[in-house]
Amino acid sequence: MKALAPGKVILSGEHAVVYGKPALVMAVDRFAEATISSNSDSRVHFELVDFDENSSLTIQAMRELKGRLMRNYQMFLNGELSIREVIKKPFHLFEFLFITFIDGVQLKLDRGVDIQLKSNIPVGSGMGSSAATLLSVLKGLTEYFKLELQPDEFFNYGLEAEKLQHGKPSGVDPYVSLHGGFVRFQNKKAENLNMPELPFYLVNTGSPTSTTGECVSHVADHFGDSKIWDDFEVVTNEMQKALIKSDLNEVKRWIRENNSLLATIGVVPMHIQHFIQDIEKNGGAAKIAGAGSVRGSNAGMVTVFSDHAPTAITNKFGFELLNVHGEAHGARVV
Ligand code: PMV
Repeated sequence: MKALAPGKVILSGEHAVVYGKPALVMAVDRFAEATISSNSDSRVHFELVDFDENSSLTIQAMRELKGRLMRNYQMFLNGELSIREVIKKPFHLFEFLFITFIDGVQLKLDRGVDIQLKSNIPVGSGMGSSAATLLSVLKGLTEYFKLELQPDEFFNYGLEAEKLQHGKPSGVDPYVSLHGGFVRFQNKKAENLNMPELPFYLVNTGSPTSTTGECVSHVADHFGDSKIWDDFEVVTNEMQKALIKSDLNEVKRWIRENNSLLATIGVVPMHIQHFIQDIEKNGGAAKIAGAGSVRGSNAGMVTVFSDHAPTAITNKFGFELLNVHGEAHGARVV
């Protein structure tokens, strides 16, 4: 049994979406993949192929782990732990999901399960790789156990797990990975939009030093009550109009505005600002796509709108140009 779930790119509205403002988000053709099979030893094995990590727990051990993780999360909410300290091992996220799902649908396992996970979505780079992996597991498990879940249930299981990693996420990552397409997302609801026709380029600037959870916490501490989120909303609304009209000049104008607001809230490292300035000097526009970083010099994905591929500038900075396209379909069994 194999299931896939796509990653995503935020074209406008990251961070603002945490404060109830809209975001424009596109599922892209990079996927997380979960392969599920049975085993005879009554334990649940996770294999994270890309991390070269394995874990094997009994159901009882997973329930205990879930208790510990929920206590950690409560301590994060109380300000006693940083979000980085809530989950210590990558597979804990999936073990939490597994036991929450199994107990939620009141399943009794009569044999063990092997779950192998891999992905071609760059990890921790603003493309929603953990949400896509969570959704691929959920789709795979639902099919494997022949259950039927409503979209809201998939979303909620994904979001509950994502909270342990991202603190107080907006829900945009699991939503888009579940449904695919291009959406305007706000307050956990989304409106479907036509896929933009304008081409854009994605540049991988390398894994950010800080996690999404840390960025969101840092921004909350400094801008939680700020009026700046209204400015983000204006930019997103204007960007939506420009994308509908396929007006590249207008799109570039609002990408530049968006980038300047993101720099103001402190999630665009100086090195990345220099890269973006070079793109702008060449007539293009660029911004981070995702949480960015509040430390170090890398910021994950940067979206570039320009008349031609920004190959020379990307090479000059030693970054990687990715070839991705919009993906109409969300998580599914293959
Ligand atoms: O997971 P990332 O890096 O794509 O960031 C998600 C977008 C944020 O707005 C920064 C956080 C959120 O929960 O919406």
